[in-house]
Amino acid sequence: MQVAHIVGARPNFMKLAPVVRALARYPNVEQRIIHTGQHYDFNMSDVFFQQLGIGAPDVNLKVGSGTHAQQTAEIMLRLEPVLMNERPDLVLVYGDVNSTAAAALVCAKLGVRVGHVEAGLRSFDRAMPEEINRLITDQLSDLLFTPSQDGDENLSREGVESSRVHFVGNVMIDTLQRMLPKAMCSLAQDLPSRYMLVTLHRPSNVDDLPWLAKTLDVLERFTGTLPVLFPLHPRTREKIQQAGIDLRRRNLRMLEPQPYIQFLGLQARASLVITDSGGIQEETTFLNIPCLTVRDNTERPITVTCGTNELIGRNPEALAKAVERALHGERKKSIIPPLWDGHSGERIAEIVVSRISSRSPAYTSPQPREAALGT
Ligand code: UD1
Repeated sequence: MQVAHIVGARPNFMKLAPVVRALARYPNVEQRIIHTGQHYDFNMSDVFFQQLGIGAPDVNLKVGSGTHAQQTAEIMLRLEPVLMNERPDLVLVYGDVNSTAAAALVCAKLGVRVGHVEAGLRSFDRAMPEEINRLITDQLSDLLFTPSQDGDENLSREGVESSRVHFVGNVMIDTLQRMLPKAMCSLAQDLPSRYMLVTLHRPSNVDDLPWLAKTLDVLERFTGTLPVLFPLHPRTREKIQQAGIDLRRRNLRMLEPQPYIQFLGLQARASLVITDSGGIQEETTFLNIPCLTVRDNTERPITVTCGTNELIGRNPEALAKAVERALHGERKKSIIPPLWDGHSGERIAEIVVSRISSRSPAYTSPQPREAALGT
């Protein structure tokens, strides 16, 4: 039986790794990795494959950047012939990026079964491109693997039959647990004992140049108290340049996008993390590091209810106050969410193998919820 994994962007790669490793234990499963090429810089893609030991992708569609429609359409155009030729028994897609939704759409039209890893998360904010990708992918998937129970609840509310939904826990945490010892060894000798770690890349934040400038001003205020380390996503670097901000005149320590192991080490030692990323909200919760999220909502509410995450909104002054509180030692009590235990990839592999073996047909037509419930 053949399983094809389709990935494209940085946050997909750490979710892919544990599933590939777990499926490799089944001798009758042949795996293919198809990279769409949505992310193409060495430090946004290749270095993750190297560090996570996944091996190079079997196919790279090299779609590159573009508008949302261009990128999504290009992925579909280039993926369709590959899947028509290979006809895998199952395609696994990951997360919520354009590559995820484009691949699910191609598979659904070809009648190829799709499994979605990290299903059911909702921010309820359709201004986020990722939310549209989540909704489309979940509606088209035959198997939905959720990281937290809020995902199951969201899917049930949207009429997805419970037989398709599997609460397996968080695959990102599988990778984090496996790589943490290496990450701790990777820390530079001269790393300051206290520092703040910042990542910002959401279009809703960084494309808003006045907001970006004000937020950098707020961060700058704290550089007298402790160093502020800021690995720059390519989009953020471009926007800072567009805003005419001269990084050389700032005390912020701007870094290149960090490889997985180095960034994990930086998170694990940080006094405080400020972010608008999804995955970092989860990683800081597991690591018990305070996290301030500069967004109005999160598709990962469990990091707020159970974890260290605090939603600050897009308000630079509210951010300044929250940083002050955190630096004065105010901390949320946190627990690790259920099934974030390092074995999610194994649970996915077990379900995949049993489902492929049973040769259930691809999910072909939407079932009205009433019919599915027999009412
Ligand atoms: C994508 C995901 C987002 C994820 C993020 C992680 C979607 C809709 N968004 O956003 O959910 O959190 O990846 O990084 O899929 N660029 C480079 N080199 C690269 C890749 C991108 O320079 O290797 C630049 C290009 O100028 C490009 C811009 O970054 O236009 C944005 O890249 P894109 O893949 O469109 O989306 P991200 O903002 O990275």
